[in-house]
Amino acid sequence: MTPGSEPRGRAAVLGAGSWGTTLAAHLAGRGFQTRLWDADRPNLERIRADQENRKYLPGIALPDSLEVIFDLAETLEGAALVVWAVPSVALRDVARAARAHLPENALEACATKGLEPTGDDGRAHRMSQVLEAELGERERAVLVGPSHAEEVSRGIPTSIVAAARRIEWAEAVQQAFFAPRFRVYAQDDLIGVELGSALKNVIALAAGIGDGLGYGDNSKGALLTRGLAEMSRLGCAAGGRRETFYGLSGVGDLITTAISRHSRNRRVGEELARGKSLASILADLGQVAEGVHTAPAALALAAELGVETPITREVCAVLLEGKSAQDALADLLSRDPKRES
Ligand SMILES: NC(=O)c1ccc[n+]([C@@H]2O[C@H](COP(=O)([O-])OP(=O)(O)OC[C@H]3O[C@@H](n4cnc5c(N)ncnc54)[C@H](O)[C@@H]3O)[C@@H](O)[C@H]2O)c1
Repeated sequence: MTPGSEPRGRAAVLGAGSWGTTLAAHLAGRGFQTRLWDADRPNLERIRADQENRKYLPGIALPDSLEVIFDLAETLEGAALVVWAVPSVALRDVARAARAHLPENALEACATKGLEPTGDDGRAHRMSQVLEAELGERERAVLVGPSHAEEVSRGIPTSIVAAARRIEWAEAVQQAFFAPRFRVYAQDDLIGVELGSALKNVIALAAGIGDGLGYGDNSKGALLTRGLAEMSRLGCAAGGRRETFYGLSGVGDLITTAISRHSRNRRVGEELARGKSLASILADLGQVAEGVHTAPAALALAAELGVETPITREVCAVLLEGKSAQDALADLLSRDPKRES
């Protein structure tokens, strides 16, 4: 038995996409008796038969001890740790379905990044707010940061953040997941961490648009810097701490997402700039690109808080109003001269 892989009780991972599958394999390797569930039963059957998730995580053999379970209640039975890893648009429904089966004292880790698209109240909700509204205040932390599944699943060193209002909850999640090649830092700025990890996807869409237009390193450096300023301006107005945006869940995740070949959000922006329609890009992608949902929610949050977010505004215009990438960039660049800070 390798250090850190001693038996630790049961873990339930909800969402068998690339990230849920990666985290489930990680927890199984850490000694948790891990069960993986998803709403896509045919794919669960294939994962069970192949002991590999060829649809979302091809080429990664899953540990024999990892169980694939079709029934949500059975997945959650006796779980000491519950991991939320479904896309943001599905989180509320999955939380509702899980409510009656969630063990009383289970520790929860939310690995979903994003803002829930605004509902009837016109407000954007962070993932922890969705879970709290559906399940109440419980021992729970979000687990986010620069962590592409394609790399974590191959043991490439990665550092992320566990964040909760109470630091001891963040530390409990840190302890559950921490490994030498998967370093987890604890944080108590829940708002700052959640907003950083959600808003960076919007800036990554803009970075992809720049790539698609053939812009270079100067433009990307400028965009990421101004994007970070925009993220922290909005995040601080919402109650986050400025320094959090200079940490792993802010600038760390922003850099990774905006330059990576693995980043779906960057790729969506790139293809939009090349003239492809959003619907056909998403159909070809076949996986979630959270920035597409987060962008309008972020714009609504900015309007509510009276914060200027020019990059987010232009990304929304390209995504939702059919504005061309060229026009969006031209409007962004023709704004009045500003002071840097
Ligand atoms: N992939 C990564 O590298 C990565 C890293 C960190 C965080 N995340 C975050 O994790 C979340 C999931 O991302 P992913 O990359 O695994 O997505 P994915 O597109 O690979 O998979 C999504 C999974 O969710 C399932 N799903 C969709 N609707 C559902 C529902 N209503 N009920 C149950 N399951 C449902 C799908 O069947 C699919 O298995 C996102 O918020 C993403 O931002 C992903």
